[in-house]
Amino acid sequence: MRFKDQVALITGAGRGIGKAIALAFAREGADIALAEIDVAAARTTAEEIAALGRRAIFRQVDIGDCVEAQRWVADAARELGRVDIMVNNAGAVEAPTLPGSQPRELGAPSASASVGRVLLLAGRGARDGAA
Ligand SMILES: NC(=O)c1ccc[n+]([C@@H]2O[C@H](COP(=O)([O-])OP(=O)(O)OC[C@H]3O[C@@H](n4cnc5c(N)ncnc54)[C@H](O)[C@@H]3O)[C@@H](O)[C@H]2O)c1
Repeated sequence: MRFKDQVALITGAGRGIGKAIALAFAREGADIALAEIDVAAARTTAEEIAALGRRAIFRQVDIGDCVEAQRWVADAARELGRVDIMVNNAGAVEAPTLPGSQPRELGAPSASASVGRVLLLAGRGARDGAA
């Protein structure tokens, strides 16, 4: 187990990529704190993590709200005892559309595709760099 007894904080872990990341870390021995706007989805992920034998806590958090996000990180550190890994998966930004360009010219199916980000911080940066 590569992350035994470490603590990972993961945003947007109610479904999709964030959920897959959360379950992958749990399978490798980590305890997980989830931040989600969809609390029902977060609860389901937390139950699946618990079924893997790891601790999971979740909060309804909009990570676009800095105060909420900082409170979540502080609560997670207190409840799970430490923070080793931070995956800021949730959220999306619209990629700029180049003026006058056509999708075919860009070699992509859509010139205005939504591009998100997966940010992974480990160690001290997970605590200091979060939110
Ligand atoms: N799926 C892809 O092909 C792809 C490609 C490139 C980038 N991304 C990016 O990866 C990330 C995850 O993608 P996905 O396909 O798993 O998305 P998804 O929509 O399936 O899941 C995103 C999760 O994040 C939660 N969420 C959204 N905004 C939130 C917020 N402000 N605070 C807390 N939780 C929030 C949603 O409720 C949802 O459960 C996104 O940032 C996305 O833009 C995805």
